[in-house]
Amino acid sequence: MADGGYDVSDYCAIDPRFGTLDDADALLAEAHAAGLRVIVDLVANHTSREHPWFAAALAAGPGSPERNRYFFRDGRGGGSLPPNDWISAFGGPAWTRIPEPDGRPGQWYLHLFAPAQPDLDWDEPAVQEAFDGILRFWLDRGVDGLRVDAAPAMAKESGLPDAGHLPGALFESRSWVGNPHWDVEGVHDILRRWRAIGDAYDGERVFVTEAVVRGPERLSRYVRPDEMHTSFNFDYLTAPWEPRHLRRVIDESIAALEPVGAPPTWVLSSHDETRHATRFGRAHTAGAFGGAAVPPSPTDRGLGLRRARAAALLTLALPGSAYLYQGEELGLPEVEDLPDEALQDPTWERSGHRVRGRDGCRVPLPWEGAEPPFGFTADGVRPWLPQPPEWAGLTAAAQRTDPGSTLNLYRDALRIRRGTAALHAEPLTWVDTAEDVLAFDRGPGFRCVVNLSTETVDLDGQGRMVLASGSCDGALPPDTAVWLATG
Ligand code: GLC
Repeated sequence: MADGGYDVSDYCAIDPRFGTLDDADALLAEAHAAGLRVIVDLVANHTSREHPWFAAALAAGPGSPERNRYFFRDGRGGGSLPPNDWISAFGGPAWTRIPEPDGRPGQWYLHLFAPAQPDLDWDEPAVQEAFDGILRFWLDRGVDGLRVDAAPAMAKESGLPDAGHLPGALFESRSWVGNPHWDVEGVHDILRRWRAIGDAYDGERVFVTEAVVRGPERLSRYVRPDEMHTSFNFDYLTAPWEPRHLRRVIDESIAALEPVGAPPTWVLSSHDETRHATRFGRAHTAGAFGGAAVPPSPTDRGLGLRRARAAALLTLALPGSAYLYQGEELGLPEVEDLPDEALQDPTWERSGHRVRGRDGCRVPLPWEGAEPPFGFTADGVRPWLPQPPEWAGLTAAAQRTDPGSTLNLYRDALRIRRGTAALHAEPLTWVDTAEDVLAFDRGPGFRCVVNLSTETVDLDGQGRMVLASGSCDGALPPDTAVWLATG
């Protein structure tokens, strides 16, 4: 748990803290019986430092086949300096020096994330073959697919040349093109190899990739017909609450994915980003990995939630697939005041306490009851991060009985989305409208209007209201969205 579980020491087992393989089988069976599908997260760029391969690599010494599964290199400057200038996603250099078996300071190993997450060398056939087996292990158990973690990191330019990163710089993968350790061509060979394995299985098995790259064009390369089926859309996730920017990202995403035949996708929050109900209530509304590059500013909670609800209707009306991050359906805010000693994201330590990291969006969900742990754990068992007592009003149980709750907005929106044929089939057509308003049709029968301006927008004659993100009485207030039945 050096990085919230993204440090795997055994790919074919369940961490005992969470249960057993039998529990996993039972979960799959129950989910399938309920019509739900389950995908597992495949973290293949790196293992845990506690993986037996890494222990074997340390013991075997320089030049051994065991070390070749990872990137062990001699340091520069007589060995005392890192082999190149690459930086870690969580701050600091991407290299850590080890003592050799005889106790003397020795080689360095590469970790693009925390030191507890050594990168695997995917040019190594032993690594490729081992992961073929790991994929089959889970597909054989009946999982419906895999989410491929940190896909652009998996190939490195040979020779590991300097990237031109400055010491102390922050990870900026969103803008990297031609970087020697990100979005390198060899990644696609790995993805194709995996796709072929998945395609040999019965039923629908889906590969979702996490590929934070520069723009929809680069992203489309990950979802070509023989690679991944689909990918999170980080350009949308990080877009500010700004109509021209949103419209451009929507248009570019659709246009870039169409030629490769992959569905556009939309996502507003994740376990790596500031929750959008908070982000949208700040002066700076754009997202960034772990909130890294975001200047601190006070949050207007009411404004943030209003916009988050409007953003939900925008997102769920767009063509393609939508990803919801647990808790956004409750309108949960980022927990901004976690005590320093509760923080677990390696970013906090690695950045020298400059960046607080991603714990604020990972606080366990409030299910029911009047006080923490709100049914998340058995009474008396404290979850790994403290929940704010004021979440009593946000529990799923409290929201279920309130027709105006965010939970019921999401349930209504999903029900309508499922039952509205135009939302499955029809393309998006923008409608001319007032400035700073996004309006589009999905076929002749459905219109979505999102008011990002500061003025109320008249909806007269546009259609019958089906669902609204806030009070809306013939006129659409600022930061509100509406679905209309037209024609
Ligand atoms: C992905 C995960 C993130 C993790 C990182 C390293 O970005 O989403 O949570 O820290 O990969 O595995």
